[in-house]
Amino acid sequence: MNPEGMTSLPQFPEGFLFGAATAAFQIEGGWNEDGKGPSTWDTFMHRPRYAQHQRAAEVAVDTYHDFQTDLGLMVELGLNAYRFSLSWSRILPEGRGTTNSRGLEYYSGLVDALLERGITPFITIYHWDMPQALADLCGGFIGRDAAIYYADYAEVVVRHLGDRVKHWITLNEPWEHAMFGHFLGEHAPGKRSPWAYFRVAHHELLGHGLAVERIRSLAPDAQVGITLSQFPVYPMQDTARNRAAARFADLFVNRFYLDALYRGVYPDDLWRRLWPFKPPIRSGDMDIIARPTNFLGVNYYSPMFAYHDWRIPFFQAWIERQTPPGPAYIEDELLGPGPYPSGLHELAIRYRDEYGNPPVYITENGTKADEQVKRDAAGRIMEVHDPYRQRYLELYLDQLARAIGDGADIRGYFVWSLMDLNEWTSGYTYPMGLIHVDHASQERAIKDSGYWYRDLIRSQAR
Ligand code: FCB
Repeated sequence: MNPEGMTSLPQFPEGFLFGAATAAFQIEGGWNEDGKGPSTWDTFMHRPRYAQHQRAAEVAVDTYHDFQTDLGLMVELGLNAYRFSLSWSRILPEGRGTTNSRGLEYYSGLVDALLERGITPFITIYHWDMPQALADLCGGFIGRDAAIYYADYAEVVVRHLGDRVKHWITLNEPWEHAMFGHFLGEHAPGKRSPWAYFRVAHHELLGHGLAVERIRSLAPDAQVGITLSQFPVYPMQDTARNRAAARFADLFVNRFYLDALYRGVYPDDLWRRLWPFKPPIRSGDMDIIARPTNFLGVNYYSPMFAYHDWRIPFFQAWIERQTPPGPAYIEDELLGPGPYPSGLHELAIRYRDEYGNPPVYITENGTKADEQVKRDAAGRIMEVHDPYRQRYLELYLDQLARAIGDGADIRGYFVWSLMDLNEWTSGYTYPMGLIHVDHASQERAIKDSGYWYRDLIRSQAR
């Protein structure tokens, strides 16, 4: 603490990127406008079950009609990078074939506007919203052809934007997309099958590798990477069996992807237990997947906890998301159970020591929080107090600075999210933004945590 009672702000290396992130389906709206085709997420959120979130899905936070307001706020925050995704079906309404020029113009305008303001665009090519027509044609990523259609789509966007955009993220969180969309059925396209899970994971990675080749040949100076969700996994209670369960869960959620990308293999120990689900892998696939990239994108929120359970077929382990077993994993009184900032340091050290210390961008980190919105007499938003989120960001960024001090090659950090947005099946009920959004009026206001982030950026010795 310094004399004013403020925690001192961590310093990051010169050139470090301070950004915020979003995804097309979660912000754009304009779901059926100007030639855009429906995506699997449009279809999924029109199920009667999600009727209460229809506006969130169709209008989101309306950036398709106005991105200027948010750009102004990004400048006010002092961001020097912005991560956003492209809607595949806005660019290729059928997923392949004819391009929709209005879709491409929209993204081209956004890229120009960012560059004019000195904000580096980080584009996620695929953040889960596959064109419905393509999913109907090839079964989505369950079908191997999706990898090729995806690479064709990547080529289209790099042809149009690659002269100005230098940072490309091929895919967002293949684990989530395969797991929630194809194993648990909680996300689009709503499939529930362990066979589908592994096929999707393999085909996503294959699509990634094919896209890396295409992007490189079109834009040799491009920086290309993939974004993985990452979870340090700890044993629920510290017994030998639970430690083994945690190791197995780690293979399943983390190493499956890291080993494929950085070593060109899937972990053998995984197939020893899950052999019936092994997807068809053709010769040459693993070499394509392991094509060298320029960076690893990491989304980190919280760890997982695993315990041995012989009743669970094949897995013999249960993985708890986010509910820690007692006080051992509570690092801060205000934050309470769930967040675990040191996990970020631990992950960074793993990449440093076990995966060749690749350049890493933390492409998502952030939290939902209780907030107090203060309005003036005319009803305009004056202040948004969110001390919980500020504390969260302080502690995670401290750990990140510590990891850099310990030699991890971390190049940038993106808060999830820039503004409150449409959180998939939770609609507007899960605000995580640095910027508050009044969803009835689209009014925006920077939250206290946003001002804290601005001060952190300003405080960097340059
Ligand atoms: C990640 C997703 C992102 C958002 C955050 C909260 O898994 O990539 O779109 O939903 O979680």
